[in-house]
Amino acid sequence: MPPLIAAILPPAVVSVDRRDDSDPAPLFPAEAQIVAAAVASRRQEFATVRLCAREALRSLGVAAGPLLPGPGGAPAWPPGVRGSMTHCAGYRAAAVARATDLAGLGIDAEPDEPLPAGVLDLVADRGERAALPTDGLCWDRLLFCAKEALYKAWYPLTGRWLGFEEARVGLAPDGTFTARVLVQRAPIGDTVRTEFAGRWLAAPGLLLAAVAVPTD
Ligand SMILES: CC(C)(COP(=O)(O)OP(=O)(O)OC[C@H]1O[C@@H](n2cnc3c(N)ncnc32)[C@H](O)[C@@H]1OP(=O)(O)O)[C@@H](O)C(=O)NCCC(=O)NCCS
Repeated sequence: MPPLIAAILPPAVVSVDRRDDSDPAPLFPAEAQIVAAAVASRRQEFATVRLCAREALRSLGVAAGPLLPGPGGAPAWPPGVRGSMTHCAGYRAAAVARATDLAGLGIDAEPDEPLPAGVLDLVADRGERAALPTDGLCWDRLLFCAKEALYKAWYPLTGRWLGFEEARVGLAPDGTFTARVLVQRAPIGDTVRTEFAGRWLAAPGLLLAAVAVPTD
């Protein structure tokens, strides 16, 4: 079966997903060290998503070594590769593309459940909240999911933290969204891209979002 997340990614992206941690997912020693003190569920999701990533990299024709967290927790992908990983209850996925095809990539998965009380106010401004549809699925969680996907594409491009209040996301019922980042400069002073386009998907119990940044 094709990965669920593939439906919202451009053709140049290779993705692999898993619904659980049942497949053996060996880690390189340097990876195992990172989660050595973590709880079992964290070690398992960390390993399974790397199993997904290594499969995706192999399909892209790239040898897969350790996938270690770099600055800000962003994974250090092999040279010439852009990618993103996500894990939530019942879903793990990795997506990779050649840097010649995409400048950046962010994916996120969330359970299709309402955000805990009070969280939407931290994630969305008044305009974003007012624009959310009210029926069908957990649009508050989807907005959160879209912003996390945006952040995962944004951070490796800029090396800059982005607060939830620093981007405006508009979700459309047709499975697309737009994101406008309200900051103009990265820490090194470069002007940054401020307009992003994303796609989202609702599957039973799951919400997925992806932001693929085209090369200029
Ligand atoms: C980093 C963050 C986005 C991860 O999202 P999450 O829903 O908690 O967790 P997910 O399972 O979906 O993703 C975790 C993976 O994201 C990746 N990741 C972590 N930090 C990252 C970063 N700075 N940039 C890109 N990818 C990152 C890692 O691969 C990580 O998995 P790993 O630790 O096993 O390698 C989230 O914890 C966070 O810090 N959010 C605040 C910033 C934000 O989202 N701002 C919104 C701006 S509009």
